[in-house]
Amino acid sequence: MDLEIAGNVAIITASSRGLGKASARALANEGVKVVINGRDEQKLSATAEEIRETTGSKVLSIAGDIKERETLEDLVDGTLDRFGKLDHLVTSAGGPASGNTLDTSEEDWYEGFDLLVMSVFRLVKKAVPSIRKGDGGTIVNITSRSVKEALDSLVLSNSIRLSVIGLEKTLSRELAPEIRVNSILPGPHQTSRIDGLIDQAIERGEIEGRQQGIEEWSKSVPMGKLGDPEKLGSLVAFLSSPRASFINGAAIPVDGGSSRSNL
Ligand SMILES: NC(=O)c1ccc[n+]([C@@H]2O[C@H](COP(=O)([O-])OP(=O)(O)OC[C@H]3O[C@@H](n4cnc5c(N)ncnc54)[C@H](OP(=O)(O)O)[C@@H]3O)[C@@H](O)[C@H]2O)c1
Repeated sequence: MDLEIAGNVAIITASSRGLGKASARALANEGVKVVINGRDEQKLSATAEEIRETTGSKVLSIAGDIKERETLEDLVDGTLDRFGKLDHLVTSAGGPASGNTLDTSEEDWYEGFDLLVMSVFRLVKKAVPSIRKGDGGTIVNITSRSVKEALDSLVLSNSIRLSVIGLEKTLSRELAPEIRVNSILPGPHQTSRIDGLIDQAIERGEIEGRQQGIEEWSKSVPMGKLGDPEKLGSLVAFLSSPRASFINGAAIPVDGGSSRSNL
C-alpha cells in the first residue's frame, strides 16, 4: 500500500533507539525525509547512517536533550534550514524514573513533566505554524498504556502521561482540519527501556535476572510476547499518512491486549 507521504519531512524526537528509531525508519521507508534526535551524539550519528543506508532516504540528526527548550527550537529551525518544510511530528521520549510514590522526589516529578509533557508542548508550539503551510500535517505522540490503567512501580508514568492525552485531544480539535493529532499507547516492547526497567526491578530485589524479567513482562501480555518496535513504527507511518485521514484525536493501544480496561 502506497502511503502517499514520499517527499514529506518528519521530526521524530528521542529516536536514536527503540520506538522512536523504529518510527523514523518506517517513515524513511516510505520516502519521508526524517530528522532524528537523542542526547548521545555518537549513537545518534550511527543511527542516522543506518537509516540512510537501509532506506535510501535523507536523514538529518540533531542531538540534544528534549527537556531543554533550545533542543526543540533547534529541531524545528534545523529541519526548515535543511529541508525547507515540515509535515509530521512524532514525539517519543525516554521513560521517566520508575518506582513507588514515596520513593520519588519533587525533582523526579518536575523532570518527568519536562521530559514527557513540556517537550511535546514546546515542539508543537514552535512547529505548528510551519506544518500548517503544508497539506496533510500530522502529530503522533508515543505515550504508554499506563494512561489507561495504572502500572505497578510507575507512578510518574501513570500520572504525568495523562497530560499528554489531554493535550493531544485538545489539539486534535484546535488544529483540525489542517493537522491531525493522535497518540499510540504501547505495551511492553523489546527495547532498551524494558531492559532498563528490568534492571531496576533486579536492583529492588523483585526479580533475579534479565530472563526472568522478560518472562514476567511477556506473561502480562495475552499474546505471550513483547512487542516488535518495527510494527509499532508501521502504525506511526500509517497514522501520518492520508490513508488515516479520518483518524483524529485517537489514543490507540499497541499492547498485545495487555490492558484490562474495557475502553
Ligand atoms: N518499550 C516499551 O516497552 C514501552 C512501553 C510503554 C511506553 N514506552 C515509552 O515509549 C517511549 C520510548 O520508549 P523506548 O522503549 O523507545 O525507549 P528506549 O529504547 O530507552 O529509547 C529511548 C530513546 O530516547 C532518547 N532519549 C532519552 N531521553 C532523552 C532526552 N531527554 N532527550 C532526547 N532524547 C532522549 C534515547 O537516546 P539518548 O539516551 O542518547 O538520549 C533513545 O534514543 C518512552 O517514553 C517509554 O517510556 C515504552
